[in-house]
Amino acid sequence: MTQTTTPRDILVTSALPYANGPIHLGHLLEYIQTDIWVRYQKMRGENCVYVCADDAHGTAIMLRAEREGISSEALIERISQEHQEDFSGFLINFDNYHSTHSPENRELASTIYNALKDNGHIATRTITQSYDPEKQMFLADRFIKGTCPKCKTEDQYGDNCEACGATYTPAELIEPRSAVSGATPEERDSEHYFFRLPEFADFLQNWTRSGTLQPQVANKLSEWLEAGLQEWDISRDAPYFGFEIPDAPGKYFYVWLDAPIGYLASFKNLCDRRDDLDFDHFWKPGSDAEVYHFIGKDIINFHALFWPAMLHSAGFRTPSAVYAHGFITVNGQKMSKSRGTFIMAKTYLDHLNPEYLRYYFASKLTGSVDDMDLNLDDFTQKVNSDLIGKVVNIAARSAGFITKKFDGRLGQVTETDKLQSFIDAGDEIAGHYENREFGRAMRRIMELSDEANQYVHDERPWERIKDPEQADQVQAISTNALNMFRLIMTYLAPVLPKTAKAAEAFLDAPLDWNGRATLLEDHPINKFKPLMQRIESSQIDRMLEASKDALPAATGQPSKTAEDSHMEPIAEQIEFPDFAKVDLRVAKIVSAEHVEGADKLLRLVLDIGDEQRQVFAGIKSAYAPEALEGRLTVMVANLKPRKMKFGVSEGMVLAAGPGGEDIQILSPDAGAEPGMRIM
Ligand code: MSP
Ligand code: ZN
Repeated sequence: MTQTTTPRDILVTSALPYANGPIHLGHLLEYIQTDIWVRYQKMRGENCVYVCADDAHGTAIMLRAEREGISSEALIERISQEHQEDFSGFLINFDNYHSTHSPENRELASTIYNALKDNGHIATRTITQSYDPEKQMFLADRFIKGTCPKCKTEDQYGDNCEACGATYTPAELIEPRSAVSGATPEERDSEHYFFRLPEFADFLQNWTRSGTLQPQVANKLSEWLEAGLQEWDISRDAPYFGFEIPDAPGKYFYVWLDAPIGYLASFKNLCDRRDDLDFDHFWKPGSDAEVYHFIGKDIINFHALFWPAMLHSAGFRTPSAVYAHGFITVNGQKMSKSRGTFIMAKTYLDHLNPEYLRYYFASKLTGSVDDMDLNLDDFTQKVNSDLIGKVVNIAARSAGFITKKFDGRLGQVTETDKLQSFIDAGDEIAGHYENREFGRAMRRIMELSDEANQYVHDERPWERIKDPEQADQVQAISTNALNMFRLIMTYLAPVLPKTAKAAEAFLDAPLDWNGRATLLEDHPINKFKPLMQRIESSQIDRMLEASKDALPAATGQPSKTAEDSHMEPIAEQIEFPDFAKVDLRVAKIVSAEHVEGADKLLRLVLDIGDEQRQVFAGIKSAYAPEALEGRLTVMVANLKPRKMKFGVSEGMVLAAGPGGEDIQILSPDAGAEPGMRIM
């Protein structure tokens, strides 16, 4: 069972976290997923290297440093320390953690840019943009606020209205102002540099279909390619925290140009310190080394369009694959500060063991881009029953006999067939790890754990031990069970590196995947110490409480794609007939009033053409009743009536927003009439 083939050379990356905010549980899904995959590869003896870095450039970081009265360099230095502490707290084992604001990255960005330019893939043209005359800087759309031209809601961002959903340009805003200084923006011209992405349409068509992407992602990309590619604006005007474009004073690379180059830079920085790693071997075209990027689904366009095109033009190899994962929700909803479910890495670590989360994520991860819900009750239940109730229990119930009755020494294995099946299961589990089907791997491992517990249960060593004649059997049973435990811990080691270490210390033997067929016999072990504690629900409560206090400073990075700017993950797909079951109607609010004794509800009477309905809506914190009377809105007209404390609610009004004062009820455009069906 030892490895005979030459090890694979594998370079793995996770997306580079922005250096303007703390790591939260959403980020951790990605770093934990990647770390498990990398630890698995290393255990198998592959030559696998995992690099990452902080994504340190951009306007948001520059403005935050200004607000704090420190230099951008000082800010990114501090955040980098914080990020690395969080990562090490979650046992994320990078081979290198670097920064995009580094000499290596400056050099690589300029090399790549120059290559693109020499190949005729850079265009320049003048564009008109909003400019803050006070702050003397150009303003991206999200740094402009004003009144929505459609619904007249105040204080909306420059690209879309959160109240009515309209999209527009900042120039269309009523009374626009700079979110940075408050000044009225002007229009100004400036020359920008563009990457000629459309020239790579054919190349990307092929690349997309060459097995480099998950099917869902490849489909998305085909849509984009069919819709036609646009040239990509890669320059920003000073003041900007980033790298100045060679030969273009006052022009800087847009943060997303040098961010993925940061993967190369971090790897380069590592190669310069390690004799066994050769940068060119990994990055030359046609290399047999493998390169994998793990990313979230919100940044697919950067990794599957711009990045491969840039690498291709500049004469580097392209990634072997890009692996996108979905987004995290907590208890079925977007992470929310007011519910305490916007949980920072640090806050979690103050209350809970990092391996619990690693295991929970692993148990739910697949190779697809589906979103994942962290349900805290399920989390508690799963960790307690699987890890403590099943896995640790095997060792806990067998170790004592060996220590107390057999001088700490294992005997001979007698259940050879059973153990062979445990050894064989390793191949199946390996396949699941390789394919990022960690959930399947965990289920298989739990089946083995059930089997091991069943075995001990059936053999009843605690009864046999009373009979001195059966001492040998008890030693054999415990030896069999502890060998099962060792195999299970070997398979769990990529997920639970710390417990794996403790198990090695207890067994006084390594957890060696490739050498797992060699069992432990006639071997001394150490005294068993509890490997893991149960989760108490009070720990979860305290973490949620603490999360309400630990609100991160507002972040304002450039939006990634228009569709992800709202960040609420899109729910699972449904068929059209499911949607058609919902009967949505335009409704006129005839009257609205407070409800005696209810602190969230307003009682609405709605006119939907032929009839009137009474609806209790939880929008009191956002609306005065007077403001609603006479307004048109949208209601679900075929929701079963629900008896509430204050009366029967005959439907539901549609509203958007996170809650509290931040709720907007939907309104149809002018011209809609009560009773109209919405489709
Ligand atoms: N800086 C860019 C990446 C540049 S890579 C060359 C960025 N940073 S980020 O901090 O916003 O996100 C880092 C990673 O975490 C991304 O892959 C992102 O998809 C992931 N996640 C951030 N929030 C997440 C969830 N709530 N759930 C799952 N993953 C999430 O994007
Ligand atoms: Zn609006």
